[in-house]
Amino acid sequence: MTTTTVTTGVTGAVGAAHTRVEGLAKVTGAARYAGEIPFAELAHGWLALSTIARGRIRSVEVDPVLAMPGVLAVLHHGNAPRVDTDYVGLLGRPDPTLAVFQQDRVPYAGWPVALIVAETSEQAREAAEALVVTYDQEPHDVAFSAGRPGTYTPENSAAEKGDIEAELAASAVVVDAEYTTPEEHHGMLEPHAATARWEGGRLDVVDSNQGTMWVAAELANLFSLDPASVRVRSEHVGGGFGSKGLRVHQVCAVMAATVLHRPVRVVLTRRQMFSLTGYRSPTAQRIRLGADADGRLRAFDHQAQNLTSTVHEFIEASANVGRVMYDANAHHSVNRVVPLDVPTPTFMRAPGEAPGSFAMECALDELAEKCGIDPIALRARSEPDVGPLSGLPFSSRNLLACFEEGARRFGWADRDPRPGVRRDGRWLVGTGTAAAAFPVGSMPSTAAVTAEADGTFTVRINAADIGTGARTALTLIAADALEVEPRRIRTRIADSDFGPAMIAGGSMGTRSWAWAVTAAAGTLREQLALGGDIPPDGITARSDTAEAVGALPKKERHSFGAQFAEAAVDVTTGEVRVRRMLGIFAAGRIVNPLTARSQLIGGMTWGLSMALHEEAVRDQASGAHVGADLAGYHFAAHADIPPIEADWVDDPDDEDPVGIKGVGEIGIVGVAAAIANAVWHATGVRHRDLPIRPDRVLLAGGGYSAAG
Ligand code: MOS
Repeated sequence: MTTTTVTTGVTGAVGAAHTRVEGLAKVTGAARYAGEIPFAELAHGWLALSTIARGRIRSVEVDPVLAMPGVLAVLHHGNAPRVDTDYVGLLGRPDPTLAVFQQDRVPYAGWPVALIVAETSEQAREAAEALVVTYDQEPHDVAFSAGRPGTYTPENSAAEKGDIEAELAASAVVVDAEYTTPEEHHGMLEPHAATARWEGGRLDVVDSNQGTMWVAAELANLFSLDPASVRVRSEHVGGGFGSKGLRVHQVCAVMAATVLHRPVRVVLTRRQMFSLTGYRSPTAQRIRLGADADGRLRAFDHQAQNLTSTVHEFIEASANVGRVMYDANAHHSVNRVVPLDVPTPTFMRAPGEAPGSFAMECALDELAEKCGIDPIALRARSEPDVGPLSGLPFSSRNLLACFEEGARRFGWADRDPRPGVRRDGRWLVGTGTAAAAFPVGSMPSTAAVTAEADGTFTVRINAADIGTGARTALTLIAADALEVEPRRIRTRIADSDFGPAMIAGGSMGTRSWAWAVTAAAGTLREQLALGGDIPPDGITARSDTAEAVGALPKKERHSFGAQFAEAAVDVTTGEVRVRRMLGIFAAGRIVNPLTARSQLIGGMTWGLSMALHEEAVRDQASGAHVGADLAGYHFAAHADIPPIEADWVDDPDDEDPVGIKGVGEIGIVGVAAAIANAVWHATGVRHRDLPIRPDRVLLAGGGYSAAG
């Protein structure tokens, strides 16, 4: 037995820059990812995907493939274990396309038609590529466009205040413009991978996901298992961005492990990820703004449309972003959906806000131009005191402070508002700005903190670190709560056996987990204050924030930000180069400035990529992607990215029990608009369709105005 001095009065871990606690393990390769963790007797599954976009499977020619070297089994709709999708899970009713191999219908190109399991991954792949599947093909429809037949308005997807048409009619200045954004993909570094096995009567899944509770609960539902008999772990994750929930590969791996009584691993290829792991829907958006001559908004109307699959509704809620942003006498916003023969889209970094802010913040810039008012001053004129639709107070709203600080650092005050008048050699140069907002939320979580006999502490929480630095942030939170050095704390995460906790999603992870860790640490300190020895297995305190989260007063809780960009455009080649970017955010308490800045810069980088490069193209004839790989789908590379600065203003909220707002998603919000606005300022041409490709710049023209 050891007596430990528990509290040394050391604080200040939160708010100081700390490198990742698992950083050394990651850079030395000691950290293992889901696709590389060794298992005895491991078998490998490889998916065979449909080559048609709609129809029925007529036959799966299993026998020739079963005779190939190493092949152990071929799972398909004729022989796979049955699963149940008639349940209401954590995210509502499940997408029926999770139920692979349950029927012969093909709902989209790249749909799983079989899983080949073999002794090695190469043997499984060889067999999957040799597998002959015949189809009864039906005509498909993958053509997305604004207002096309089949578009409908889902329940509860509209919000309304006042009389939009009357306010538009009474407005001195009106903007009415349409914007589009293309299909976009998550493209995280680490492909999806899972290993499933039955161990001691329990299903044990080693996976790469954003929340083991989420995946475990869905697997339990699908396979009708007692939730206590499912364990999912996900120690290191190379990016998620909304795409790493339960997807078909985990389901296939569980099926194969069940049939073969062996551990089975399924790893997706980059190409397979394009049809199997979700994506951001293309959007078509119309914005109508009406304002008085001084720029104050009278009418705000945002109509958005996205696509979904024919079997499951997913709403990319682009029209929601304005509901908290600007005051107007009349507000209207609606999200519409059209089902097509495509995979179901999913959450992708700032779902809704990313494409929605592009349309909204470009429209605001157009309004500023028409009113002859500086874009920042214009926004300030419609700054709300309370939620424009909800009437609720803001927990804190420091948007204007972000603009002030950003304008100062970016040099906005010297800006000549005229477009197309600055030339630097072959480049036309301009600057643009946009506002950003992202909701703040908390979900119930449980945590356990143990005082070990050796004077260290172990934190256990079913959090996920998908590259965000969450593990490090929670270590710092625990250190301050316990008043000890961070190095005395070991933080264990991403194991469903640790109990329920929020997923890494909605920018809510660190906020939700920190709350639970702080509560457990507080209880532990009370226990340790009673004195006495620490037994060999330590003293553990637990927390559950369900009640506290439920009691949080209703307010408008959001992070805010101001994005700035400088763009140079060569109208004779169509090339757009972003020269510098600055984002200033009001995101509550910043736990670890090092990783928080990295998150914000990551989001801003993606915003640039969205503005200029990213676009998944579907071939209308085949219904499948053209160039479903990282050559055909162009991401911004290092050479495309200028110096990017991200920083924040003080954003305290003394009434909030956590103070953390989350930085996972707000970094991308508004960036594409700031760049499009900078391109307009450079050239005098509005680009309302993303990405702003060279061909679009060439076709649109623009140039050096005589006024310059
Ligand atoms: Mo996210 S799109 O909440 O992972």
